[in-house]
Amino acid sequence: MKNIIWQKHRVGRRDRERLLKQKAAVVWFTGLSGSGKSTIASLLGEKIHEKGFLSYVLDGDNIRHGLSSDLGFSDADRMENIRRVGEVSVILSDAGVIVLAAFISPHQKSREAIRKMLADRFIEVYVKCSVSECKKRDPKGHYQKARTGGIKEFTGVSAPYETPLKPEIVLDTENDGVEESAEKVFQFLKDKGLLE
Ligand code: ADX
Repeated sequence: MKNIIWQKHRVGRRDRERLLKQKAAVVWFTGLSGSGKSTIASLLGEKIHEKGFLSYVLDGDNIRHGLSSDLGFSDADRMENIRRVGEVSVILSDAGVIVLAAFISPHQKSREAIRKMLADRFIEVYVKCSVSECKKRDPKGHYQKARTGGIKEFTGVSAPYETPLKPEIVLDTENDGVEESAEKVFQFLKDKGLLE
């Protein structure tokens, strides 16, 4: 950045992690609309909270009410959306928080850019669910609208979704329930020594 110099502050992430008695991480849920990202992230957030650790759920629909209210669903807008929430995740994790991010985040390149910023603090969770099953669930009626032309560029119908190549965790929400899926991520975090 020209003429802008990074300022290093006296208190850093490690100091804040010590204060909070926890390790920061970003658990990144990616998958189709209706695959279960928000529901699983929410339940996982409750489990982490009950265990006495500080977490925060960043949710696609909520972020689009504020931080990204100026963005639509073109490829460029989605990339900008994910760039912004990636930066927010980096800031929140630098504050020592365990971030649970739930975004379709359809582009591999966008997700990889966030992984690069966070290194091993980034845990990619692919919430796997077929388009046909998401269509059946259709909790918001969006797939129906997309089918009849009411929503354009809808992920899985008229816009692409790039399946993660090497996610840390794959959740099969067509066969496993919400509790089972949230527990699987919870165990992963425990095994990684993040919840002690
Ligand atoms: S992303 O592609 O930029 O990562 P994000 O997760 O923020 O998407 O928002 C997805 C939510 O917006 C969906 O859960 C859905 O409710 C709503 N939505 C509205 N229009 C679209 C669309 N064209 N494609 C996908 N989701 C849409």
